[in-house]
Amino acid sequence: MHRRLSVLRPEPEVRQPERDARQGWGPGPPAENGGSIDVRELSEAELELVDARLPLHRLDNAQTYLVAWDGDKPVGHAHISWESTRLGTPEIQDVFVPEELRGRGIGTELSRAAEQLAHERGYDQISISASVTNEGALRLYRRLGYRDAGLKPQRVAGTILIRGKPVEVNDMLIYLVKEVAVDSSGSRSSYLRERRKEET
Ligand SMILES: CC(C)(COP(=O)(O)OP(=O)(O)OC[C@H]1O[C@@H](n2cnc3c(N)ncnc32)[C@H](O)[C@@H]1OP(=O)(O)O)[C@@H](O)C(=O)NCCC(=O)NCCS
Repeated sequence: MHRRLSVLRPEPEVRQPERDARQGWGPGPPAENGGSIDVRELSEAELELVDARLPLHRLDNAQTYLVAWDGDKPVGHAHISWESTRLGTPEIQDVFVPEELRGRGIGTELSRAAEQLAHERGYDQISISASVTNEGALRLYRRLGYRDAGLKPQRVAGTILIRGKPVEVNDMLIYLVKEVAVDSSGSRSSYLRERRKEET
């Protein structure tokens, strides 16, 4: 479950409107997170299904992608970079939950799973950045125990490649950190349950 994605297929030739059309969620949103959301590392076998539903912005240089599942539906993702990060600690990136599924605890589950994985790999801290204007995300991460990293807001400007396509960015990022040496209990994801079972 923890292996890295070694072989990544190229992005399928799908235009954005078609991709949007494929992202219909069917009749019902997932149940409130009463234990129904599983978080596990993206596997190559699941890549096509997840890619059809979620943006996976970091896929081209993916290290660890965690995917949240509601049954057989991927409902969110978070990427973890372990190397070459701004703060020198693992960094959670590309946390994404489709708009219609937000506010149900999926982002929280993804963050907790990332923290647990960092803890298991021997790290004391994990970091995340968000735009100064992304007040909702900043509120969420502060509520989850993240604090300012002590870095002045970092400007990112220029052209970056997302899934092979150039995208102009001009933003100010706030970096937050959290200690992960403490047990991130309270999560109900199967990912963490399984990990705890393995530990006992
Ligand atoms: C930020 C994000 C991942 C949160 O996912 P989520 O599943 O809604 O998160 P949770 O349900 O665990 O927590 C809800 C909290 O997320 C925050 N949030 C941010 N945008 C939100 C939105 N559009 N709807 C609901 N909550 C949102 C709020 O702080 C909310 O807490 P509140 O109840 O105090 O308002 C999701 O809103 C998202 O994908 N946003 C777009 C991408 C993004 O900004 N990523 C974060 C970069 S660090």
